[in-house]
Amino acid sequence: MKQARLAGMSGLAALARDARERAHAPFSKFKVGAALRTRTGEIVTGCNIENASYGLTLCAERVAVFKAVSEGLRDFEAIAVVADSPRLTAPCGPCRQILWEFCGDIEIVLVNPRGKSETLRLKDLFPRAFDASFL
Ligand code: THU
Repeated sequence: MKQARLAGMSGLAALARDARERAHAPFSKFKVGAALRTRTGEIVTGCNIENASYGLTLCAERVAVFKAVSEGLRDFEAIAVVADSPRLTAPCGPCRQILWEFCGDIEIVLVNPRGKSETLRLKDLFPRAFDASFL
């Protein structure tokens, strides 16, 4: 698998932007890209991949997380998410759950191609999360 090592948040957003170009979104036409970085600098990207049955669609964030976990990577520190919406697109509910379970209180950088961006933490997007600590 192609993995990049780049410092800095603009590099992470640029890789998410490239990943967005590979989105398979013929139904919604809403393309999303994500780039996930580990504490040691590995970067894994994802894009949304839709399906004619709709419900099998995978979001860019989950594709990035599952690709990374399947390659043996853990200990994530940041994810950039790029979509072309005037209001910045934040991860959907199911993706917040997956991000919480695999990444904890990760830094999330939301970006649109018009140059707007915002950085937040998952804890603020997803308070009082349910996770393995309850089981
Ligand atoms: N989508 C993502 O990939 N990530 C998000 O954060 C929001 C939504 C995708 C799913 C679907 O392919 C399309 O955007 C429209 O919902």
